[in-house]
Amino acid sequence: VTLAPAAPGRLPGIGHLAGLLRDPLRFMASLSAAGDVVEIRLATRSMYVVTAPDLVRAMLVEESANCTRGFIYDKARPVLGDGLLTAEGESHRRQRRLLQPAFHRQQVTRYVEAMAAVAEQKAGSWRAGQLLALNEEMHELALDMVLRVLLCADLDRSSLAAVRRCMDAVVKGIVAQAAYPSELFERLPIPVNRRYAAAGAELRRIVAEMLRRRRAAGPGAADLLGLLAAGSEGDPRTDEARHREEIVTLLIAGTETASITLAWMFHELGRHPAVETRLRAELTPGGHPVDPALAPEQGYARQVLNEVLRLHTPNWILMRRTVRPMTLGGVALPAGADLIFSLTTLHRDPRTFDDPMAFDPDRWSPARAGQVPRNAFMPFGAGRHKCIGDAFASSEILVALATILGRWRLVPAGGRVREVPWTTVQPRGLVMRLAPAPGPGG
Ligand code: HEM
Repeated sequence: VTLAPAAPGRLPGIGHLAGLLRDPLRFMASLSAAGDVVEIRLATRSMYVVTAPDLVRAMLVEESANCTRGFIYDKARPVLGDGLLTAEGESHRRQRRLLQPAFHRQQVTRYVEAMAAVAEQKAGSWRAGQLLALNEEMHELALDMVLRVLLCADLDRSSLAAVRRCMDAVVKGIVAQAAYPSELFERLPIPVNRRYAAAGAELRRIVAEMLRRRRAAGPGAADLLGLLAAGSEGDPRTDEARHREEIVTLLIAGTETASITLAWMFHELGRHPAVETRLRAELTPGGHPVDPALAPEQGYARQVLNEVLRLHTPNWILMRRTVRPMTLGGVALPAGADLIFSLTTLHRDPRTFDDPMAFDPDRWSPARAGQVPRNAFMPFGAGRHKCIGDAFASSEILVALATILGRWRLVPAGGRVREVPWTTVQPRGLVMRLAPAPGPGG
């Protein structure tokens, strides 16, 4: 057992902060040369970055009892409360079991029609020649998928706009809280803190109204709100608060990840017309791909989705914290150690993927997929906190893709697209022009 090697390039006072802020993805990628578990210092805080895929998996799966989620999640607690993304231990297990049926693969196949209707409405609102700000369009689409398909909620336009505004302020608030050098800053009445608190309150108010309307409409199908109600603890005030926290959690966890995946997907199709042509050949005349939900492991669309999730993995930085001393890959870690890992960086490691920066859906073809080290591909994480929405996300993305391609061709509009690691890795400046879809045979 040894101590973790220190990452090179540490500066007095700020440690590795400058390198991380200057170019986060390059910084994360540089660390594997220093070791499988590397110590970095961000200002006064010491942290460990796990760079080897098998150790990331070990941390998430075998060692999961030795790790809690870590400090970013603590900062989300004021708004997300004890929802699935922040709950720990028994409370997490109970809540996860309760919600699982709404995300089960079989249940997800029942959402396909509603997903297609949401995508159809979006694609039908566009006009030929229009310039699309893709991030915004896909964000609206993904938010609608969670609200209307998963939660069966119908919000009016102004509430929808308010939800989007509040989600943005909440995410910014969580990031700011995590970046403060001292917790004292969290209590200062500066704009970002005030907006975080106000947006959290506004979001809770809208969700409370949504719940009230659903209850007034009487018991519905066994959907997510129904499951929440079935998990009632008997005290209406506790129930109400828990349900609100869970819904806000699903909105935050389930919107941006899916929306940027869709945005990157159209960006890559725009740059690889041959991939788009092959994808179109797979669509049935109704615009739906060959059974996206029923045969999710098959088909070229699935290969394209896998490749987008590999090259543009949304979660470039995630965390855990040790609850007791442990060793990982022969490296001793103290109790309370902050562990960082980057799924994006793992999926771009040339030791795992040949020519990792190339967009190549054929890596996932039946002939070649065997060469991909499956254990090293985990866009949805692994272990007890593995994304509960993985099947939901894959279906909504494939259904949206097929529906949109059935009507349109999205053509790059010429601007420069920059990769910006924010809470997820985003395509900034992505604007595309709408052209009608080519007819059959063309
Ligand atoms: C392409 C889309 C998505 C990606 C790449 C993604 C990725 C992830 C990852 C990597 C985690 C694990 C985080 C960790 O271990 O710290 C996670 C957790 C989670 N995701 Fe997703 N996600 C996506 C879509 C969704 C959707 C659509 C929903 C819900 C509607 C959702 C809800 C959640 C929740 C609730 C958790 C916490 C699970 C737990 O701790 O038990 N995600 N996601």
